[in-house]
Amino acid sequence: MGDYVFPEDFTWGSATASYQIEGAYNEDGKGESIWDRFSHIPGKILNGDTGDIACDHYHLYQEDVALMKEIGLDSYRFSIAWSRVLPDGKGKVNEKGMDFYKRLIDELLQAEINPAVTLYHWDLPQELQERGGWANRDTAKYFAEYAQLIFAELGDKVTRWITHNEPWVAAMAGYATEEHAPGISDYQTAIQASHHLLLSHGLAVDRFREMGLNSQIGITLNLTPAYPWTDNQADIKAAERFDGYVNRWFLDPIFKGSYPEDMVELYQDKVGGFQKNESDLEIIGNKIDFLGINYYTRAVVKADGKNNIFGYKEVKPKGKEYTAMNWEVYSEGLYQLLTRVHKEYTSIPLYITENGAALNDKIDDDCKVHDNIRIDYLRDHFKTAHRLIKEGVPLKGYYVWSLMDNFEWALGYSKRFGLIYIDYETQQRILKDSSLWYREVIERNGLKG
Ligand code: BGC
Repeated sequence: MGDYVFPEDFTWGSATASYQIEGAYNEDGKGESIWDRFSHIPGKILNGDTGDIACDHYHLYQEDVALMKEIGLDSYRFSIAWSRVLPDGKGKVNEKGMDFYKRLIDELLQAEINPAVTLYHWDLPQELQERGGWANRDTAKYFAEYAQLIFAELGDKVTRWITHNEPWVAAMAGYATEEHAPGISDYQTAIQASHHLLLSHGLAVDRFREMGLNSQIGITLNLTPAYPWTDNQADIKAAERFDGYVNRWFLDPIFKGSYPEDMVELYQDKVGGFQKNESDLEIIGNKIDFLGINYYTRAVVKADGKNNIFGYKEVKPKGKEYTAMNWEVYSEGLYQLLTRVHKEYTSIPLYITENGAALNDKIDDDCKVHDNIRIDYLRDHFKTAHRLIKEGVPLKGYYVWSLMDNFEWALGYSKRFGLIYIDYETQQRILKDSSLWYREVIERNGLKG
């Protein structure tokens, strides 16, 4: 077999998110976010973990950028904590918080690493939650104002802007299934929140275009291909509904200017629908420069009328390989997903903005972390990326999740996704074998056959 050589301009990166790594949760004038609030409620997070300190990246960012340079990253995707720059979500700017992101970006540019910035990775200012959070239409307006502020302050130095990370998770885990902040359990509120998240995305794109910035803007969706458990009609239908719930509900308005009819009907039927203004879909459909896709696994589903309002239940096929998240390793899903998005939705550039594996990493006797399974996982998915590019899918870059072990939301620090191992007691960073392997991939711009 020949080598897998990637296009000259292919972007090799890695990603993180503010609440998962920064720590310094109440320093230098930062306001409280919904995750600060949620993680401090007993019983919400495994082992009572919080992001108060996390990887202390707020203080150790220079060391972290040096490690990125050692790995050879072309680009680093991180997110801004809204309440660090606008403690109340709107109004008065916290200059010290803004300064942190300016210093981080300068450090990256000095290391010749392109910043890719996510504006919202789930840490809404608590003050805005007091007014209803994403269930309140005003939050979309405040988000656009926050976006404009960030574009004005950092705009000329950022290569790629991502308005939202995974609005499906922000809406559903936050407002329907209670697993994430703000911990609400109501599907109608969640559907409403998803609409406002999408609207806020469109409004931010408007501001971006008005300002005439010379970089690119897009959104990141978590897309999960759904496969029916059997070829029974009922299971096929269940897979279609899963697809409508997770994928089409976001892809359709962004690329087709409408919500999928079957899901509109289902939501009307089961939870009484949601409110929107006439021009909203036009705003949500604003042209974007690229689509970010987070891909980890597939979903195998079977019909189950009692399990949820969608009538599906996920099943875990036996005899397959699973990561520590109990997510099946399935790189073929990445192939089918991107092929479909390209064929059915858009020909704009695609980026894999997250992909990676959580494993039970341990420091070995030689003080190293031998995470061969992660290397196998990434190799497998990189090969798939290569195949997609060869077949004409405009895949332009790949961000491994994550640069370092971090706060895995409701699962706290129990899951390790990093290329870099974090000893949370000492804040020592150790490059895992996967990061050294990734360095070779980047250097070679591909894989050996
Ligand atoms: C999120 C990350 C998260 C990862 C692994 C994605 O849903 O964007 O914040 O850590 O998946 O669960």
